[in-house]
Amino acid sequence: MDKFVVYKSTLKGEVEISGSKNSALPIMAATLLTDQECRIAGVPDLADIRTMIRILESLGKEIVFDGNVLFVKAKKKKTHVAPYRLVRTMRASFCVLGPLLARRKKAKVSLPGGCVIGARPVDLHIKGLQELGAHLIVQKGYCIAEANILRGNHIFLGGTFGSSVLATANVLMAATLAKGETVIEYAACEPEVVDLALFLKKMGAVIEGEGTPLIRVRGVSSLSGAEFKVIADRIEAGTFIAVALATSSNIIIKGANHSHLTSVIETAKKIGADITIEGSKIKVKGKSLLKPVNIVTLSYPGFPTDLQAQFMSCLCIAKGLSLITEKIYPDRFMHVAELNRMGARIQRNGPYAIIDGGGGIFGAEVMASDLRASAALVIAGLVAEGKTEILRIYHLDRGYEKLEEKLKKLGAKIKREKQ
Ligand code: UD1
Repeated sequence: MDKFVVYKSTLKGEVEISGSKNSALPIMAATLLTDQECRIAGVPDLADIRTMIRILESLGKEIVFDGNVLFVKAKKKKTHVAPYRLVRTMRASFCVLGPLLARRKKAKVSLPGGCVIGARPVDLHIKGLQELGAHLIVQKGYCIAEANILRGNHIFLGGTFGSSVLATANVLMAATLAKGETVIEYAACEPEVVDLALFLKKMGAVIEGEGTPLIRVRGVSSLSGAEFKVIADRIEAGTFIAVALATSSNIIIKGANHSHLTSVIETAKKIGADITIEGSKIKVKGKSLLKPVNIVTLSYPGFPTDLQAQFMSCLCIAKGLSLITEKIYPDRFMHVAELNRMGARIQRNGPYAIIDGGGGIFGAEVMASDLRASAALVIAGLVAEGKTEILRIYHLDRGYEKLEEKLKKLGAKIKREKQ
């Protein structure tokens, strides 16, 4: 296992944002809807992508992954079983369920494993597919599904915490090959859902309303192969905004779509960043005095839960009281204890965290608990006095392509060592 050793740093320069992991994963699953060849560019080389490649291979796809481009084609032998040993490591793999059902009429997909950021049910995925006419049972840790024919329906997909990104993706993919029209009400509006819809349209699907809470799909009898390039990773871009903010650095973020980051940019400005947009460049200037703010995580276009931890690190050094309300995953606060070990003063109460910032942070040995929490600890390490050692950084390798290389190029003092 590897660890990061990080020292206080000021950064400067340009960073290129990779393709979006959360966009690429459902798009990869969508290739199961056809036997024709697909070419997907802009795919980041990450552990989660490699897991999805193994799942697709086990389901009968032949895949070449070369220089961020994926070539996917069908092998003769096809199965419909996505095994636990692969699915358990990554929740996004559950979205092979919809395409398998639509194309192969049956699917046996392991339920995703437990997750450190809290309960992550799949009831909305199951409800949506059932309402398309599939018969689903959960048995011995697997979701076993059958559908001789899927029929379009009006499906309300809102849950206790609002819309669901991957449930929308699952139902949308299944609906492309269903008979008749499907209306998904309370659909997720995230840019990654829009990207999936654009890929499906390139395959020949008939979809309208993507990016709004009401998506309409007119089922077609078959889909073809397609060429596509996934969008840039808005969460990676937002992470670099947080890095600039926390370290009072000047960073130019290249290749990201700023319109996917409006709530994040607004929040960063309130905390104290100067941000200007020039074409596909986001220029961020961090200031030395940061201001406290209140952040509420919400579905898109609200502030993303996937940037909550990174911005909490910034607020640890903003003088005064900040409040973070986590509305998507009320238990997503594993980083609080680790940041407090570094001298932060954060009190958590249910879905709320009160940050009494400005007291300074010092280096310590800390443990990365999940992907975004790990990024938060890296940010804290870049601000802290002294040496910070971050253990279990394999979480970062699941979701940030070449993070330490990119940070080093900007001048960060960070190195990877054996734990
Ligand atoms: C996706 C992202 C993840 C991000 C999350 C929220 C991918 C691969 N992952 O995960 O990085 O943090 O969106 O933006 O794209 N829920 C239910 N029932 C369900 C499904 C979800 O109640 O069947 C709840 C969840 O517990 C959560 C909320 O809905 O409270 C939103 O979760 P969801 O949008 O489904 O997250 P994912 O799609 O799994």
